Amino acid sequence: MLQTPLKPLVIKGKPLLPIVQGGMGVGVSAHRLAGSVAGLGGVGTISSVDLRRHHADLMEQTEKSRDKARIDAANLVALDREIRKAKEIAHGRGMVAVNIMRAVEQYAAHVRQACDSGCDAVVVGAGLPLDLPELTSAHPDVALIPILSDVRGISLILKKWMRRGRLPDAIVIENPRHAAGHLGAARIEDVNQPRFAFSVVLDETLALFKELGIESERIPLIAAGGVNSHEQVRELLSLGASAVQLGTAFAVTEEGDAHINFKKVLAEAKEEDIVTFMSVAGLPARGVRTPWLESYLEKEAKLQKKAGPKACQVGFDCLHECGLRDGIARAGQFCIDARLAFALKGDVKRGLFFRGSEKLPFGSEIRSVRELIAFLLNGLEPMAMAA
Ligand SMILES: Cc1cc2nc3c(=O)[nH]c(=O)nc-3n(C[C@H](O)[C@H](O)[C@H](O)COP(=O)(O)O)c2cc1C
Ligand code: SF4
Repeated sequence: MLQTPLKPLVIKGKPLLPIVQGGMGVGVSAHRLAGSVAGLGGVGTISSVDLRRHHADLMEQTEKSRDKARIDAANLVALDREIRKAKEIAHGRGMVAVNIMRAVEQYAAHVRQACDSGCDAVVVGAGLPLDLPELTSAHPDVALIPILSDVRGISLILKKWMRRGRLPDAIVIENPRHAAGHLGAARIEDVNQPRFAFSVVLDETLALFKELGIESERIPLIAAGGVNSHEQVRELLSLGASAVQLGTAFAVTEEGDAHINFKKVLAEAKEEDIVTFMSVAGLPARGVRTPWLESYLEKEAKLQKKAGPKACQVGFDCLHECGLRDGIARAGQFCIDARLAFALKGDVKRGLFFRGSEKLPFGSEIRSVRELIAFLLNGLEPMAMAA
């Protein structure tokens, strides 16, 4: 375990490093990354989306199939394998969490599988997980962690869950101004709104806890989006956060589960290469302007004009509501599953590469999870640490 003078994050009574590795799909955070982070005493998160892509035998059975039940079943097998392997790497240290997007059609099945396979926490973003306490009632030891961006969403979840006698075990507060992937704002124009600033949301959330009679230590708050220095970690902890969550910086570590080209695209992207656009899931998203995204954005308005219902491209209807399949003109008009799968394999021309807006702690260098966590905890320069 790494040592730090910073206060531990405590979830379900377990002291952890105050560093969380956010879930990243498709396949970007699987067993190797999540297990390595947990093994050092932090929270490592597997993303549950389409994990069969890491398993050659499951891909052989399903790659050419358009049988939804078969693909869904393969993904549950893959999720089970990934959780077990991550826990093996972690050796009981830290926490192995599973991130499940509310917007995914198989959300409930993934939540159940994650619990049955022995994950320590279920983390849900991209929608309001109002029903999470019921779905996990047979597994009271599994920590429940929603991802939200403003106090309105936090208030809705708290009030609904309290009626069922449950509280979140932590809450991730993700700032849409800086985070990667799907963003917690309704429209692209809203992502920079001051109401999403960490200082505002932390203050308002602590006031809400008081109003609802919840002790502030009872639900640790985890700040996510754009964190890249030790000083920032200290500042966020001083504002009332109990931990920070990072995505992009973990995706590009040696242990990150994606192809090396994927890591290079993220690590080498310049500020002007990063764009916010509408995803098929109906939410704004942030990624790198790679060749496919550039040409898609040029055609987007035309595609949206002629949007109309059509068959799912991959045949497994990954989303509850998909802009492309359901012909929703305000949403994106591409198959996100296919694009993220290209990215995972390192196909720079055809892939979609999610990335946060800020510089990375080690610039364009690819380093280990240990170096990244030590840097965030203690602010040591990478060179000094190696000596
Ligand atoms: C490649 C990539 C994929 C991501 N996929 C997901 C996802 O599937 N579900 C989710 O809740 N967040 C996802 N995120 C967001 C991260 O978990 C994290 O909260 C966010 O990246 C934090 O911002 P940062 O990248 O500036 O550190 C993704 C981020 C990246 C970089
Ligand atoms: S067409 Fe839509 S629902 Fe079907 S796999 Fe692609 S993104 Fe998912």
